[in-house]
Amino acid sequence: MGTNEYNYKVVKQFAFMTVIWGIVGMLVGVIIAAQLIWPDMFKDIPWLSYGRLRPLHTNAVIFAFGGSALFSTAYYVVQRTCHTRLFLDKLAAFTFWGWQLVIVAAAITLPLGITTAKEYAELEWPIDILITLVWVSFAIVYFGTIIKRKTSHIYVANWFYGAFILTVAVLHLVNSAAIPVTLMKSYSAYSGAIDAMVQWWYGHNAVGFFLTAGFLGMMYYFVPVQSGRPVYSYRLSVVHFWALIAIYMWAGPHHLQYTALPDWAQSLGMVFSLILLAPSWGGMINGMMTMSGAWHKLRQDPILQFMIVALSFYGMSTFEGPMMAIKTVNALSHYTDWTVGHVHSGALGWVAMVTIGTMYSLIPRLYGKTGMFSVTLIRWHFWIATIGVVLYITAMWIAGVMQGLMWRAVNDDGTLTYSFVESLEATRPYYGVRLLGGVLFLVGMFIMLYNVYKTILGPDESDKSIPTPV
Ligand code: HEM
Ligand code: HEM
Repeated sequence: MGTNEYNYKVVKQFAFMTVIWGIVGMLVGVIIAAQLIWPDMFKDIPWLSYGRLRPLHTNAVIFAFGGSALFSTAYYVVQRTCHTRLFLDKLAAFTFWGWQLVIVAAAITLPLGITTAKEYAELEWPIDILITLVWVSFAIVYFGTIIKRKTSHIYVANWFYGAFILTVAVLHLVNSAAIPVTLMKSYSAYSGAIDAMVQWWYGHNAVGFFLTAGFLGMMYYFVPVQSGRPVYSYRLSVVHFWALIAIYMWAGPHHLQYTALPDWAQSLGMVFSLILLAPSWGGMINGMMTMSGAWHKLRQDPILQFMIVALSFYGMSTFEGPMMAIKTVNALSHYTDWTVGHVHSGALGWVAMVTIGTMYSLIPRLYGKTGMFSVTLIRWHFWIATIGVVLYITAMWIAGVMQGLMWRAVNDDGTLTYSFVESLEATRPYYGVRLLGGVLFLVGMFIMLYNVYKTILGPDESDKSIPTPV
C-alpha cells in the first residue's frame, strides 16, 4: 500500500501539537517551580496563583502534550501495522479538533478557578461530556481500523494502544460521575472514603494506562523501527501485557496509605504495587534487549539515545514506585518532594523522553524526508534534556528525604526538633536546582520546535548518515 493512501493529515496535526503543547505545559511547569521559590511572583492576580496554575500544568503536560503524542502515534502505528487507511477520516478529524477544544477549555476554566478539585480529573462536567464524545470517536476510528486490517496478525503495539483507549474510557466515565448543580459546578457522585478510593483507582490507572500503556505501544513500534531490529521477545511482550493490565487495576490504594481507607485495602494496594515491578520490568527489558545486535547504533543515533534513556527512567521509576508503596517507606515519602521526584522521573524521564525520540523518528517519515533537519540539534537536545531531568529529580529526592526526616525528628521531651518553616527554608536551594533543571528541559523543547519547523518547511537537508527505515 502506498504512503499516499494512508491518512497522515491527522497524524501530522497531532504530532505538531505535541511539540506546541509540550512547550506550553512545561513553561507553566517552570512558572510554578519559580513560584515555589518566590511565592509573591504574581501577587494579587488570582488566575496566576499557584493553586490554579498547578492543575493547568498537569493537564497540559499529561493530556495536551502526552495525549497529542498518543493520538498521533496510535493513528500512525495502527495504519502501518494493519496495512490499511484509518477508518472514517472525518471522525478522525473530529478527534483532533475536539481534543484541541478540550485543551483550550481547560486552559480557560482552570485559571478561572473552575474545578472539580479531583486531581487529574479537574475539568467540569460540560468539558467531561466533550471528552467522552472525543474518546468514543477515538475508539471507533482506532478499533474500526483494526477490524478492517489487511493483515491476519495484530502487532503487539496495538494491544497496548487498545488497552489504553478502552481503559481510559472506563476510568473517565466512572470517576467523573457527578451531579451538576450549575453549568460550571458539580458534585461527585461518591462521598467520603469511597470518593477517595474511586479517585485514586482512577489516578493510578491514569498513570498505568495513559502514562504507561500507550507509551509502551509507542516504544514497541518505534524502538524496533529506529534500531532496525525486531522486538526481542514477542512472547515476553504478550506475557507482560496481560500481567501489567491485570495488576495495575489493584494498586491504586497506595496513594491512600494511612488514611480513612480500610486497612486491608491499603495493604492490598501495597502488595499489588510490589508485584507490579515484574511486568513493568518485562517491558523495560524487552525494549532494551531489542537493541541486541544494534548497540553500535546507539553511539551515533541521538534518537535511539532518547529512547534508551527513556526506558532506563521507566525501569527506575517502576522500581521506585513499588518501594514507595511499602507502608513504612510511604510514611516517610508521602507529602514530601520525593513523590514529586518520582512523578517527574516517570513523566519527564520516561514519558517526555520517549515522546521526543519518537517524534524525531516519526516527523521526517510523515513528510517524506530522509531524516530531521539537523542531527546536531537533536544531539544538543538530548544532552540538555538529560541533564535537566537529572537535576530535577536528584534535587527532589534529596529535598524529599530531608523533609521527611525533619518532620519526624523529635527531641527527648517529645517536642518537634524542627518547625515547618525551617523545613521550607532548608528546601529552598533544591527548588532552585529543580527550576534550573526545568528551564534546561524547556530550552531543549524550543530547540526541538526549531528543528521540527525546519524539517517540515525547509528543503531536504537531512543528515543521511543515520538510517531511517520506513
Ligand atoms: C519543564 C518541565 C517541568 C517542570 C519544570 C515541572 C514542574 C512541576 C512542578 C513545580 C510541580 C508542582 C510540584 C509540587 O506541587 O510540589 C509539578 C507537578 C506535576 N508535574 Fe511537572 N514539570 C515539568 C514537566 C512535566 C511533565 C512533562 C509531566 C508529565 C508528562 C509532568 C507531570 C506532573 C505531575 C503529574 C505533577 C503533579 C505531581 C503530584 O501531584 O505529586 N510534569 N511539575
Ligand atoms: C510499578 C510502577 C509504579 C508504582 C508501584 C508507583 C507507585 C507510586 C507511589 C507509591 C506513589 C506515592 C503515593 C503517595 O504517597 O501519595 C506514586 C505517586 C505517583 N506516581 Fe507512581 N508508581 C509507579 C510508576 C509510575 C510511573 C511510570 C509514573 C509516570 C509515568 C508514575 C506517576 C506517578 C504520579 C503522577 C504520582 C503522584 C500522584 C499524586 O499524588 O498526585 N508512577 N507512585
